[in-house]
Amino acid sequence: RLGLKTSIIGQEIHYHETVDSTQKIAHRLGFENVPEGTVVVADEQVGGRGRMNRPWHSAKGTGVWMSIILRPSIPLPKAPQLTLLTAVAVVQAIGDCTELEPHIKWPNDILINGKKVTGILTELQAEADQIHSVIIGIGINVNQQKSDYPPELQSIATSLAIEKGEFVNRAELIQAVFTRLEKLYALYLEKGFLPIKLLWESYAISIGKKITARTLSGNLTGKALGITDDGVLMLEDDQGTIHQIYSADIEIG
Ligand code: BTN
Repeated sequence: RLGLKTSIIGQEIHYHETVDSTQKIAHRLGFENVPEGTVVVADEQVGGRGRMNRPWHSAKGTGVWMSIILRPSIPLPKAPQLTLLTAVAVVQAIGDCTELEPHIKWPNDILINGKKVTGILTELQAEADQIHSVIIGIGINVNQQKSDYPPELQSIATSLAIEKGEFVNRAELIQAVFTRLEKLYALYLEKGFLPIKLLWESYAISIGKKITARTLSGNLTGKALGITDDGVLMLEDDQGTIHQIYSADIEIG
C-alpha cells in the first residue's frame, strides 16, 4: 500500500481505522513473535495518550498516529537514545515531504514556529536488565486546520498543513519516516550514539538557552548545556551546579 522502500521498519504493518491507542496494540504485539520493525498505524485514536499520561488528540484522518516496535540489543539505560534518534528521523522526514524546518525541544517535542507538531512516546518492555522491545509511539499533526483545535491548544499546537498552507500526503510522510528511521537506526547500531547526538543537537532549540525544567520533584531554572551520551539533559543553575534532568517539561526563556 505504501510502496515500501525499507527492509526492517514497516516490513509488517498493522493498519486499523479506529483504535483506542496504537501504543496499546503495539505493547500486546511486542510480546508476540512479530518481526522487529513491525508498525501499528491508525486513522483515528479514541484513547491516544502522550507523556505523563496526558490525552493526545488523534482525530480521524488528520495525522500520523503510529507505534513502531524495535528490538535493539543495547543496555537498558541507553533506551532514551532511541527517542532522540526518532526525533531526528521525524524532523528529517518532515523536511523531505514539506521543506519545513522543524526544531526539537528536549526530549522529544518537535516544534514549528514554537508550536508542537509532533510528540514521541518511547516505552520499554524489559526482562531483568535485557530490553525485549522498545515501543516508539509517534504522533504527527498533519492536516488539522486551526479551527480543529480547541482554543487552549491553538497557541501551543500546530500541524504541517497550517504551517505549509497546503495539505500534506500522510502515506508519503509515513514512508519518509520509515526511510529516515531505518537509516539512522543502522547508523546507530553500527557507530553508536555520537553521530545521532550531533544531528540531534543541530536541530535542538533549547541548547545554550535559559530554560525552566518542571520535574516531579520541583522546578529548576538555568542554562541548558546539552545532552549526555545517554541523552540526559544537563542544566547549569545560577550557582554553577550542573544538574542531570531525566524527565521534565521544558520551558524556554
Ligand atoms: C507526547 O508528546 O506527549 C507524546 C505523544 C505521543 C502520541 C503518539 S500517537 C501514536 C502513539 N499512540 C498513542 O496513544 N500515543 C502515541
